[in-house]
Amino acid sequence: MKFPLLTIVAALTALSPASVAAFSPSHHATTIKLYDISNTSWGISSRTPVRISATTTSKAPTSLYISALETLADMTILSIDSGDIDTVSSYAKTGLITDATTNPLFVSQAAANGDVRYEAMVSDAVSYAKRVTCTEGGCPVPEETLNVAMDKLAVNLGRELVNLVPGRVSTEVDIRLSYDTQRSVERARSIIGMYKECGVPSNRILIKLAGTWEGVQAARILEAEGIQCNITLVFSFLQAAASAQAKAYLISPFPGRILDWHKKQSGTAGYSPDADPGVLAVKRMYAYFRKFGYNTICMPASWRPSRGSEVLGSDVDEILALAGVDEMTIPPSLLNSLSILESTNVVRKVEPMGAAASCNDPDFKLTEESYAAYWKTDVCGQEKLKEGIDAFTVETEKLIKILIDKF
Ligand SMILES: *[C@@H]1O[C@H](CO)[C@@H](O)[C@H](O)[C@H]1NC(C)=O
Ligand SMILES: *[C@@H]1O[C@H](CO)[C@@H](O)[C@H](O)[C@H]1NC(C)=O
Repeated sequence: MKFPLLTIVAALTALSPASVAAFSPSHHATTIKLYDISNTSWGISSRTPVRISATTTSKAPTSLYISALETLADMTILSIDSGDIDTVSSYAKTGLITDATTNPLFVSQAAANGDVRYEAMVSDAVSYAKRVTCTEGGCPVPEETLNVAMDKLAVNLGRELVNLVPGRVSTEVDIRLSYDTQRSVERARSIIGMYKECGVPSNRILIKLAGTWEGVQAARILEAEGIQCNITLVFSFLQAAASAQAKAYLISPFPGRILDWHKKQSGTAGYSPDADPGVLAVKRMYAYFRKFGYNTICMPASWRPSRGSEVLGSDVDEILALAGVDEMTIPPSLLNSLSILESTNVVRKVEPMGAAASCNDPDFKLTEESYAAYWKTDVCGQEKLKEGIDAFTVETEKLIKILIDKF
């Protein structure tokens, strides 16, 4: 893959000395035990793996079989991609899942779910919004009332997830504010305030912002106030570098969607996992963070089969190719694939010192102007970011329609 951007950046900016910073993540690595090896009646000969599902997690048969999932969890902190309380709960019980997340899709699904628990969250959100923004005479700014209801619903869902996982839960700022720093900051503060009202401290929450220049600048302001941020919809090195420079707590690059773009662009049907453009992009971001001592966590999400879906076992190609990165968000289906794959398939591919040594990027400092100039050259970033924001905007609008009906 070519990175003309890098060349331009390197040529235009003064290079700072490359200090290789050893990175020790502040978060701890969890060791998970999916299989109870104390039951010797299964013995080593029984290699029947346990499929994790909403109903079987607590009944894991005993075996000395060690899965790829366990080995991966020893080197990378894992998080689940699901807004379904029961699914998150069953995976959290394995001790494997540290974090969880909400997003406009999950919140909208919760609103439309119909299950009594979700219905309770929705009606609470509606009455909360009425209490906070309306008077006897009515709701003077209906749009604001809906925004409060929407955020409160996300908080209600997030607070359930906080009780299930030991780590953090991300909550997204209204995607429609992705190009408005000031209003994003205000909404984020309000979300943190809502969490505090129901007893959830801000250190259990990450505020999710889209990886636009404006979103990243909102993160800069919030981080300075002690509110930690997750920069999402990251498709390019530029977004990652800007996030690190703004001291964002975490970024979520999407290797799978980067791969989609490159496959479409080049007509290539498959890549070897180590040459997958999505994998390479994430490695480059991680290497830059570690080389220059940025504490920003690199937490990829969104996975595709590098070699193409017709190749057996390719569903976890990108995950295995990034084994060792700080954290990963993995959907239930791929957690399951990893749990039935043997441990020997996991070879650490990413580690801080090696990554730092391999980094060829300078520690250039981005400004709004230079960012805009480079962004113009980044077609994958532009297209995928727009697509991501548009898709979440559709979900947000659906959610608003559902909420209007509830008022
Ligand atoms: C061990 O596993 C076998 C097979 O699942 C089961 O029948 C037996 O009850 C287990 N023993 C203990 C002590 O858990
Ligand atoms: C950060 O956001 C991404 C993208 O939505 C998500 O997959 C990930 O789980 C979030 N991280 C945490 C720690 O919540």
